[in-house]
Amino acid sequence: MTTTGARTEIRQADPATDFPGILGVYAGNKWSHARAPERLRIAVERADLALVAVQDDEVVGFVRTMSDGAFAVYIADILVLPEHQGQGIGRNLLAAVLDHYPLETFHHQVLIAERDAEGFYRRMGMTAVGAFGLTAFIRTKHD
Ligand SMILES: CC(C)(COP(=O)(O)OP(=O)(O)OC[C@H]1O[C@@H](n2cnc3c(N)ncnc32)[C@H](O)[C@@H]1OP(=O)(O)O)[C@@H](O)C(=O)NCCC(=O)NCCS
Repeated sequence: MTTTGARTEIRQADPATDFPGILGVYAGNKWSHARAPERLRIAVERADLALVAVQDDEVVGFVRTMSDGAFAVYIADILVLPEHQGQGIGRNLLAAVLDHYPLETFHHQVLIAERDAEGFYRRMGMTAVGAFGLTAFIRTKHD
């Protein structure tokens, strides 16, 4: 368990009790996952690691990962409620994830970033794949 700021706790998500708050974080950011709560619930339950940031019993931030548990981790989503952004909550959520998957073994910590969030990931010490002479491919359905 980690503490960020005076009143924010970072802890493992318990889907049974935290799911409504997690859904609220997706809805608050207008992410399409909020329109598919049943599937989002599955994603939260099957995450390798799912962390919530909690302030006064309210879920204000969330992150989830997928991993093979050996070499690679994919950081699927990281979100903070708009009214709580800019307070270090995203930093603490992502730091907890990166610490959980040490680079000595997990040599691929990857994610796909919204353009607007690029600066955040750079601030967190992450590097766009192009800097390594790599590229990334995706097959996606836009909505
Ligand atoms: C991106 C997000 C998770 C960042 O969380 P946050 O709690 O607002 O960020 P923090 O306050 O912890 O910021 C940490 C550092 O990153 C910087 N930062 C945060 N968001 C940034 C952005 N969009 N662009 C550039 N820098 C950013 C902060 O200024 C801060 O820098 P500092 O070290 O100089 O103080 C949050 O803004 C969010 O939920 N956005 C909407 C959802 C989203 O886009 N998620 C990412 C999808 S790829």
